[in-house]
Amino acid sequence: MYIKELYLVNFRNYQEQKIDFQPGINLLMGSNGQGKTNILEGIGYLISGKSAHCKSENDLIRWGEKNFYLSGSFLVSERLFMLEGYYETGKKVMKINQLACKRLSDYVGTVNGVSFYPDDLNIVKKGPNERRRFIDLLIAQIRPTHFALLNAYLRAVHQKNILLKNERNINLLRIQLQAWNEQICEIGSKIIINRSEFTDKLNTHCRKIFQSIFSDEDHLDIVYQALGKKDLEQALQSFPEILEKKMIQEIERKAVLFGPHRDEIIIYLNGNDTRIFASQGQQRSLVLSLKLAEMEIIRNEKDEYPILLLDDVLSELDEYRRDYLIEYINTLQKQTIITMTGADDRITNQNAVVYQVSNGNIRRK
Ligand SMILES: Nc1ncnc2c1ncn2[C@@H]1O[C@H](COP(=O)(O)OP(=O)(O)O)[C@@H](O)[C@H]1O
Ligand SMILES: [Mg+2]
Repeated sequence: MYIKELYLVNFRNYQEQKIDFQPGINLLMGSNGQGKTNILEGIGYLISGKSAHCKSENDLIRWGEKNFYLSGSFLVSERLFMLEGYYETGKKVMKINQLACKRLSDYVGTVNGVSFYPDDLNIVKKGPNERRRFIDLLIAQIRPTHFALLNAYLRAVHQKNILLKNERNINLLRIQLQAWNEQICEIGSKIIINRSEFTDKLNTHCRKIFQSIFSDEDHLDIVYQALGKKDLEQALQSFPEILEKKMIQEIERKAVLFGPHRDEIIIYLNGNDTRIFASQGQQRSLVLSLKLAEMEIIRNEKDEYPILLLDDVLSELDEYRRDYLIEYINTLQKQTIITMTGADDRITNQNAVVYQVSNGNIRRK
């Protein structure tokens, strides 16, 4: 699959811009602050219906304007799809072939993308939030209903929190908590099952890729710890029981304390938690492996490689890993959109189309 054309209006530092992309390697070059990342952000927004970096879509609107509009034409299995996104405060419309989608879960999954930004190192370095987000986004690309599950689950947790804070009548509180717990258990279990399945896929692919980049001797293991348990069946079985047990504590603390919104995904290298024990280089190799594993998983599920978006990562990686990635892109021969500040012969020699980005303007070289 690939993006043929992108059109942006009042998006970040672009007033109005159209860009044609080719199916192979596309290089966005320009010095810092010119708008290279913003282009990837725009493509990513069209693919996932969400911003990769901004919590609020208001931040995507060009300063001084009231709305933004994005459209892109994409080729998927030789079929043309037109995706559109419009946003103004309080109103958001996402369309596929001119039909507005009611829910985000109706929108995502048409086109797939894997992006690699410098701050993706946080997937390995930071807390469980980042890893849950990574796996949830991967699942949603293939099974869009996962988004609907997550939303329903978070709504239930939110309602339960409100209840815990406000309900003074203990008997009434217990009855209502039980009702919410049933919902949380039902939806939460589906989330856990999805995550477990995809963590296993990730583990299989990532392990192989990591060994080929780094070393045969290192043993990688990605483990999804649902509800504090390493065994899936055990976790699912104990879910209602633990919710019941935690009730007193939750009433005392007036907050939801337990559920898959707190789950961990631990990446072990030779038995050690990489968040704490891996070197910088190993952490970089790991993120790279996770991203390339994501490529393979989507390829397996969709029979086509996703679009690869690489933001300035060549400068982030050391020479060895950079060579590996360049080799990968060149052999893959699929659409890759790369941002860079300076030219790299090994990419520019490979029939890459080069675009010069300067101050919200793009010129093909
Ligand atoms: N909402 C916005 N409206 C206008 N300009 C913006 C907005 N958000 C970011 N910018 C500008 O976009 C530029 C950064 O673009 P970016 O794509 O990150 O640059 P690059 O990747 O080329 O370094 C900065 O000059 C920043 O001031
Ligand atoms: Mg940038």
